[in-house]
Amino acid sequence: MKVEFSAFPKAFSGNVAVFVAAEKQFLATANAIDSQAGGALTRALGAGRFTGATGQTATILGQSGGADRLLLLGVGKGRELDARAAEGLGGVVAAEANAAGHKAVTVVVDPVKGSRLTPGQIAARIALGAQLRNYRFDRYKTKDKPEHKLSLEQLTVVVAGPADARKVYAQLEPTIDAVFMTRDLVSEPANVLYPVEFARRARELTKLGVKVEVLGEAEMKKLGMHVLLGVGQGSERESQLLVMRWMNGPKDQAPVALIGKGVCFDTGGISLKPAGGMEDMKWDMGGAGAVTGAMKLIAGRKAKANVVAICALVENMPDGNAQRPGDVVKSMSGQTVEVINTDAEGRLILCDAMWYAQEKFKPQAMVELSTLTGAIIISLGHERAGLFSNNTQLSNRLRAAGSQIGEKLWRMPLGPKYDKLIDSEIADMKNVSNGRDGGSITAAQFLQRFVQEGVAWAHIDIAGVAWSGKGDNTTPKGATAYGVRLLDKLIADNYER
Ligand code: BES
Ligand code: MN
Ligand code: ZN
Repeated sequence: MKVEFSAFPKAFSGNVAVFVAAEKQFLATANAIDSQAGGALTRALGAGRFTGATGQTATILGQSGGADRLLLLGVGKGRELDARAAEGLGGVVAAEANAAGHKAVTVVVDPVKGSRLTPGQIAARIALGAQLRNYRFDRYKTKDKPEHKLSLEQLTVVVAGPADARKVYAQLEPTIDAVFMTRDLVSEPANVLYPVEFARRARELTKLGVKVEVLGEAEMKKLGMHVLLGVGQGSERESQLLVMRWMNGPKDQAPVALIGKGVCFDTGGISLKPAGGMEDMKWDMGGAGAVTGAMKLIAGRKAKANVVAICALVENMPDGNAQRPGDVVKSMSGQTVEVINTDAEGRLILCDAMWYAQEKFKPQAMVELSTLTGAIIISLGHERAGLFSNNTQLSNRLRAAGSQIGEKLWRMPLGPKYDKLIDSEIADMKNVSNGRDGGSITAAQFLQRFVQEGVAWAHIDIAGVAWSGKGDNTTPKGATAYGVRLLDKLIADNYER
């Protein structure tokens, strides 16, 4: 979608959205139109439900001010209008436009009293939010039905001082393609997106200056990554380790390592999942998708930081050659693992990816994202991701970043009593505990056994947030790209000069 920022025109035309604050308070433009039209807006609202609360809308047809259709857009109370809320408004406008089949829409940004944002910032955030909402994975829709396509092609944001808005927007713009890349990766079916294809698509990041390297099974075998390889053993598709480097920070600064779970399809393996809903397991690479999108964003805005990303890409299939429950495998760290349940495969691929990251890059911090457990959905639902960490500073940095950009986290506990639950009779550890109790925690404990001394580590279980059945203001239903903006914000606020 094309975005333009322009100064106030003499008259409006087409589809125009104007601000109304809480308690039906018309802001400047709505007010002017209302008085020109002899109070028609006031009358049209009448005793309806529209109050001007954040994100509410009311459409008024054939009103004056030149507009053919006027969209009254509730901006709520001024102090509520922060960056995220403004993005939400943009998203609402885009959704309304697409629902109505409009090609172009204009949003008029009046100054909002009480908001900490300048009109330029509000305008830029509205544009970003509209872009993020204006996404559809329609690659496989072959029939040309209008409801299968987005209609909105042009957004004009009217604001006093459009140059300011353009400047802010230019900084935000790399977010769009990064989020879209992740949503595409996560939405692709597993017959199209398998480990080699994922890695191939990630190579596009070289254009932005990211060094992309891909290790195949032979190389991983040499490195001793047998726990990772065991998971992909039953698949016709070759497992891959995708390594991306963006070293644009101070030479002497240790990088931050981002790790992603990339199970391109998770059947459960020999511990086969039930059929119902198994198709969801195409998005079991959501962690790797988010990490790849984050690298695209970090490089896209030329962050002055050192960041490396490692994605473990596999397919978990049952087969004559598949790993069996009870198998014992040796990790790159030297520790051995008894595989009790082949469906607890995420931790198996991550432990070798994490060890590789630490051996190779000596990171100061390591943040790993994975659709790791169904249990985290039981705990937190779809509103927050589960955060597990050995470091309170890193946890707080992540939580702060998440609350600002709208990707929320909730810190979960770790401890020696939980850790003990994965001791094995035959090997150093087993990949699941005896019961299902605290399933997300025991999964995290497993990962923690592969964290080296002195490394600040965080594991983020995104099983409940990587995909949305209902969407929100800036995210259509489907792949959310949760984590892309979170990781970028973490870097921007804490690891960048
Ligand atoms: N990929 C799944 C977790 C998952 C479930 C993600 C639902 C998204 C939605 C993971 O590999 C898995 O199968 N976990 C098992 C672990 C169990 C065998 C200990 C689970 O959560 O049931
Ligand atoms: Mn599984
Ligand atoms: Zn899985």
